[in-house]
Amino acid sequence: MADNRPIGVFDSGLGGLTVLRELEKEMPNENFVYFGDTSRVPYGSKSNATIRQYALQDEKFLLSKNVKYIIAACGTVSAVASDTAKELPVKFMGVVENTARDAVNTTKTKKIGVIGTTATINNKAYEKYISKLCPEAEVTSVDCPLFVPLVEAGWIEKDDIVVRKTAERYLTTIIQKKVDTLILGCTHYPVLSEVIGDIMGESVTLINAGVTTAKAVKAELKSLDLLNDSTNKPKRALYVSDKTSSFSKVAKILLGGEVDEQSVEQVDITKI
Ligand code: DGL
Repeated sequence: MADNRPIGVFDSGLGGLTVLRELEKEMPNENFVYFGDTSRVPYGSKSNATIRQYALQDEKFLLSKNVKYIIAACGTVSAVASDTAKELPVKFMGVVENTARDAVNTTKTKKIGVIGTTATINNKAYEKYISKLCPEAEVTSVDCPLFVPLVEAGWIEKDDIVVRKTAERYLTTIIQKKVDTLILGCTHYPVLSEVIGDIMGESVTLINAGVTTAKAVKAELKSLDLLNDSTNKPKRALYVSDKTSSFSKVAKILLGGEVDEQSVEQVDITKI
């Protein structure tokens, strides 16, 4: 039986709009509710306990919007707090598991690189999934905390000296390990694909967690017969926990298109 309720997506902030963009491309007929915890971003530098507490509140908020499925677009939540979804009354997907599988299916040399926030890298979630699927794989992980503020400042051009030098410094170890596949394990990193791809070289495949996750969610909804069959124009509802002055600028970079700020609602996530 088709299910016309929206799909819920949450992130620590606006970074998850890169994932929403892929979800909307993959499932143009679905309704989406997005929550970005802009008052508490970043999650990537916080403790596991705090990230878990925030994830629970974010999930609860989406449930209050009558969603049929919840996606943690946030790499950090997916790596640290996916088990918070165990009790949810709806299906849940984080970005780590399918992205790890995609990387294992892509690599020929079994040398895989992972970049993400400090919490994501410290929790070794990608390593765990990859070694389950391919015990002989060699994984090199590096946290790249400066990528998030660079993207949010709009510094994303591949020839920008600051962007390039920062990326070169972060990627040095991964290049030395001669990986042939690199997981972009944070919402913001697809925006830096050009510079990262340029530095890594053509022989390295970049894995965008948003693309992989969108395909996996669609496949699961289809297999459960939960895709939307309505012919009404699909709706996108955006919620944030703080409307900052840079909202429109940052949202445009991450979503790849204009967002009408008036249509975005602010919620107090601590009172859910
Ligand atoms: N959304 C986060 C992630 O994908 C990046 C920003 C943050 O640190 O909260 O890990």
